Amino acid sequence: MKKMICAATVVASAMAFHLPAQTSVTSEDWGKVSEGQAVKLFTLKDAELTVHITTFGARIASIEAPDKNGKRADVVLGYRDVQSYEADKSTYFGAIVGRYGNRIAKGTYSIDGQTFHAPLNNNGNMLHGGTVGFDHKVWTEKQIPGGVEMTLVSADGDMGFPGELTAHVRYSLKGSALQIEYSATTTKPTVVNLTNHSYFNLGGESHGTILDEVVMLPASRYTPIDAGLIPTGELATVQGTPFDFRKPTAIGERIDTPNEQLKLAGGYDHNFVLDSTSGMHLAAKVVDPSSGRTLTVTTTEPGVQFYSGNFLDGTATGASGVKYEKHFGFCLETQHFPDSPNEPKFPSTVLRPGQTLHSTTVFTFGVQK
Ligand code: GLA
Repeated sequence: MKKMICAATVVASAMAFHLPAQTSVTSEDWGKVSEGQAVKLFTLKDAELTVHITTFGARIASIEAPDKNGKRADVVLGYRDVQSYEADKSTYFGAIVGRYGNRIAKGTYSIDGQTFHAPLNNNGNMLHGGTVGFDHKVWTEKQIPGGVEMTLVSADGDMGFPGELTAHVRYSLKGSALQIEYSATTTKPTVVNLTNHSYFNLGGESHGTILDEVVMLPASRYTPIDAGLIPTGELATVQGTPFDFRKPTAIGERIDTPNEQLKLAGGYDHNFVLDSTSGMHLAAKVVDPSSGRTLTVTTTEPGVQFYSGNFLDGTATGASGVKYEKHFGFCLETQHFPDSPNEPKFPSTVLRPGQTLHSTTVFTFGVQK
């Protein structure tokens, strides 16, 4: 199977005839990063999906899902080996991004009157946790029923963030649903925003652009951005704009319309404010008319970053040898809003000692004939 290096060791494969088919979880060594830490690759497999997860950046390395004819394809962009993931400092393919996913203006924010600075790695701003974010750390792993739990301890002062943060990310597979549960605790007040940065292409990772895929986002408002892609603080209506995805619309249908916000980002790269925020709620639905594959995203988070792969430029050569060009994948990063530490009106991202952050997102795949 692609992206596998050595024979898999069966870690758990609990099958009992009176139970529905279970998820099998296997793991293998996946080489080392340049500093010598060993990396593992887990395979989560059931009748519907096969998912590969690596301890490097707690990344989703592949998701194999059937199309309307039962033909399987990997529906996320990614590489075959850990060296390629390590060398890539700009795409965040499949990674858990943190300690603060997306941008903090000038990398600077205050908590309780004390100012902190994170390293600037994106046009004078901080993106996805700074120069060495959670996406480039080797996480420790523990097998759990139907999946794997990844843990990272981020030291007090790591990338300028206060407090030692212990983050757990639990991936588990059940039927056609991949669940991601996040939890985190801290030793000092800090800011946290954790998400998964998978790029989906429901036609398959070698398919080409995602412009024909049809997206629905249940969001009446979004957060417009400035030239540095930092939210202006406004919660703007999507009504009458190319940002209205309340009715299913092909990604490419309005992406080239003369709109200032689309121009600033080179396409969609915006946080959508989800209409429903209580419990597990819908964040997005996507249908690929040609393959029939569908993706439904549910979450406990208040926002979702819809990113149409605008910065992909053919530099990255993916798992099957295809160069990933502009718009070859889209991300749906469930999250708190970018730059929340500087926007008191946005939902707070402050985590304090004694509190535990809990967040859940589920990616459910299906087919539509
Ligand atoms: C996020 C950002 C984008 C881009 C990608 C990674 O989605 O919002 O602007 O930086 O990550 O390339």
